[in-house]
Amino acid sequence: MLGYVDFKQPSFWVSAVSILFNPTFWNIAARQEYHNKIITKLFGGNSRYGCYGLAVTIFSLGIIRDMLYERALRTQPTHPLLDSPTATYTGVGLVLSGNVLVLSSMWKLGITGTYLGDYFGILMDDMVTSFPFNVTSSPMYDGSTLSFLGTALWFGKPAGVLLTALVYAMYRVACRFEDPFTAEIYAKRERERKKAGERAK
Ligand SMILES: *[C@@H]1O[C@H](CO)[C@@H](O)[C@H](O)[C@H]1NC(C)=O
Repeated sequence: MLGYVDFKQPSFWVSAVSILFNPTFWNIAARQEYHNKIITKLFGGNSRYGCYGLAVTIFSLGIIRDMLYERALRTQPTHPLLDSPTATYTGVGLVLSGNVLVLSSMWKLGITGTYLGDYFGILMDDMVTSFPFNVTSSPMYDGSTLSFLGTALWFGKPAGVLLTALVYAMYRVACRFEDPFTAEIYAKRERERKKAGERAK
């Protein structure tokens, strides 16, 4: 399979860099917001506008990353085993199921819930446990990974499978970094609620 990856194509590396860049960027931005309110300040002190601004930025970076990925795949060799209707249909199916996970997650969480609102102090009332969260705890990440893999199979490109592995690894790292932090944001709210409850007694 690796024999079918053309590492000499600059577009391959550009795609790899954009895959590494996106989660790095939004984690740094979100932590800066949490500690220094840097994005809220940029939006005149309105945290909701700040979160929308970050949402638009992350969404746009995602579109650019997807475009760079497709551009990279076009310059890569096709594997004969993947050049079959089975691979194509499997790929299309994976892209569709990936999009279902991503879109249903956005639908359930809303814009601020999807795009790091918790770092802006905009917390969800309750944890969402219904679909797609009954299938995976991180439907955005898993859905996105499935779409990358699906596109690789659809185009029949081993290079795409390799870049998908990078997407997967990057999201695993992101989860390890983000999950404890957001869990602590919600735990803090619980502690404050408890305190407020005791004071009210
Ligand atoms: C998740 O919820 C959906 C819709 O409520 C349901 O159709 C599906 O079977 C559930 N999946 C699992 C794995 O529980």
